[in-house]
Amino acid sequence: MSVRIILRDRLVEALNKAGLPPESAAIVPSTDLRFGDYQSNAAMVLAKARKQPPRTVAQQILENLEVGDLCESVEVAGAGFLNFRLKVGPLAEWVQKLAGDARMGVAKAETPKRIVVDFSSPNVAKPMHVGHIRSTILGDVLARIARFLGHEVITDNHLGDWGTQFGKIIYGWKHLLDRSALETAPVPELLRLYREVTAREASDPEMAKEVRAELVKLQQGDAENLEIWKQTVALSWREFEKLYRFLDVSFDEHLGESFYNGRLAPMVDELLASGLAEISEGAVCIFFRDNPALGDKPCLVRKSDGGFLYATTDLATLAYRKERWNPDAVWYVTGAPQALHFQQVFEAAKKMGFATETNHIAFGSILGDDRKIMKTRSGENVQLGDVLAEAVERARKIICEKNPELPAEELESIAEMIGVGAVKYAELCQHRMTDYVFSWDKMLAFQGNTAPYLQNAYVRIRSIFRKAEAGWESAGKAVVIGKEEERLLGLKLLQYGEILPEVLEDFRPNLLANYLYDLANVFHSFYEACPVLKAEAALRDSRLVLCETTAKVLSHGLSVLGIRCPERM
Ligand code: ARG
Repeated sequence: MSVRIILRDRLVEALNKAGLPPESAAIVPSTDLRFGDYQSNAAMVLAKARKQPPRTVAQQILENLEVGDLCESVEVAGAGFLNFRLKVGPLAEWVQKLAGDARMGVAKAETPKRIVVDFSSPNVAKPMHVGHIRSTILGDVLARIARFLGHEVITDNHLGDWGTQFGKIIYGWKHLLDRSALETAPVPELLRLYREVTAREASDPEMAKEVRAELVKLQQGDAENLEIWKQTVALSWREFEKLYRFLDVSFDEHLGESFYNGRLAPMVDELLASGLAEISEGAVCIFFRDNPALGDKPCLVRKSDGGFLYATTDLATLAYRKERWNPDAVWYVTGAPQALHFQQVFEAAKKMGFATETNHIAFGSILGDDRKIMKTRSGENVQLGDVLAEAVERARKIICEKNPELPAEELESIAEMIGVGAVKYAELCQHRMTDYVFSWDKMLAFQGNTAPYLQNAYVRIRSIFRKAEAGWESAGKAVVIGKEEERLLGLKLLQYGEILPEVLEDFRPNLLANYLYDLANVFHSFYEACPVLKAEAALRDSRLVLCETTAKVLSHGLSVLGIRCPERM
């Protein structure tokens, strides 16, 4: 049940009756509520094609439009917009239905898809850095929303658990390993090995040779090297898992690149045999000669030394996913610098006959105060674990000041919800392609478009119910809409069901984040203008229904953003 869809259907009827093509029947919420609740630019779109004045076309539509049961009058405004204002009667009825609806007005997708979401995918033996946080948070939210909309979602962490870094790690493990450091903090120790070997290699060609030999031995299946490799993967995964648990992110699979090792050589042979790939300067390439964008950018699948590449693994991965799940779509949530890689992989996949829809869901960078890619003071990648720990620490301080009486255990759990929520929301309220400046003060502020502000709005509503009589229930209570603030709140609540599906159209969780922020603001205006507990019986019930529904939508919206709400803070 979406007002927007009902209005669109009526508009389609009107266009049909007027003998106009119905394709342009789009309805959107009005940006300026003074002119109406919803608007359509259908007349303007049609006027162009028909070479008629838009206002004349609008008039034709209006004459055939039957919305008297739902809307006050429909007006033609400006260059030819149709403005709709809902009647309060039907609005109140819709809001009442929404209050009792477990899905809060969000319909399931008409054609559910099976979707593989490939996200997070950090590299083994290197710590996860904040760059991975964008993929982890975005991917998790998109998966949550798709699931709620009724799609079948398979989340797969395509771990970077194979590659040239293992020559260095294995060499380091054999010659430079500090066992006790490995036991207390495995990922930093593996990183130390990687860095130390990289540094020494540069000035020591003999050592560089040995490092390469370790890599070749691993690739050829040497038992000792395989064992070391396995241990580093297991240790890293254990560390990643701790972070995922903290972030409340989970995966159905974490197959990782190494899973596809055995499939690379046969796949390349097949590509050569079928003529899809060819040998060029000793390497094996898939050319896209008829594609202007990729004409001179073939997809390399085997180097001249026989080694395979990132793209080879991705093609084998897609083939495996197709075979195992036969998905309708595969979403790759990975930074913008990998755009060319995915273009090549997707084009190659098409040539190989995969009809699956593929999407590279790209994102920008996280910047430091200096507006350059965020680094630590010593110039290293900022680690995700450190960011989360600091977020919780800062949140704890803020909460403690506000509410010093909280018992320690509750304080801890609230600090986690606020700290982690703030970091996630700072990511999600931006368009994913935006490079955003990481600012503690901004993301942890209780005012403005932040997670704490939304969590606090929820907490404030819950506190109203603590003051109301115990056991108050919304079931059977009528919603009445009198004041403009009530009307605007009802309208906003109805739009929840319109926003969620829109998020997936172009993978923009920021639409949902910004909707929740608007909702909280509209609620605050309502709460200022409309006494709730002090209102007389029927009005009080109606307003309590509005409060409760707002709290439900806020906490549900935050939960699909992967953010939890405390009951107090
Ligand atoms: N491990 C890669 C990185 O850190 C991301 C992998 C993304 N997924 C994929 N199927 N290529 O950059």
